[in-house]
Amino acid sequence: MPAERTTLIEWDDRYLTGDAVVDAQHKRLFALARDVQTAVREGRLPQVQADALQSLSLYCVEHFAEEERLMEEHAYPAAAEHRRQHDALAARAVEMVKAFNKGNTLIGETFPEFISRWLRRHIGEEDVRLIRYVQQRVTAAAR
Ligand SMILES: [Fe+2]
Ligand SMILES: [Fe+2]
Repeated sequence: MPAERTTLIEWDDRYLTGDAVVDAQHKRLFALARDVQTAVREGRLPQVQADALQSLSLYCVEHFAEEERLMEEHAYPAAAEHRRQHDALAARAVEMVKAFNKGNTLIGETFPEFISRWLRRHIGEEDVRLIRYVQQRVTAAAR
């Protein structure tokens, strides 16, 4: 399917978890994924596309670290599985950046779509569960 047939990645408030910091980071991840799509579709210089892809990849890692800090702070019981998913995606992102830089430019079209699908599922399952747990714990502690 040609790239212009798929819709541009867009944030939707359905993905809100209720944690302001995490939600702001998720929004930024969607925006960065969209930046990659845009750079590719507008036929920007390869270096510009590569930089956009790299920013997306780096920000994933930064965001995962923030959630993992939360997990530790609140002794989250399902941390291992959540972390496993983060690690898998982070490894994949590093791989994609490398492959892109080696000349596999198709990644510029496929990876943003892949990551937005991954994010929607991961946020809806793992992140929502984590934030619910943290918020219940905070509420309980305040009683
Ligand atoms: Fe997560
Ligand atoms: Fe997340």
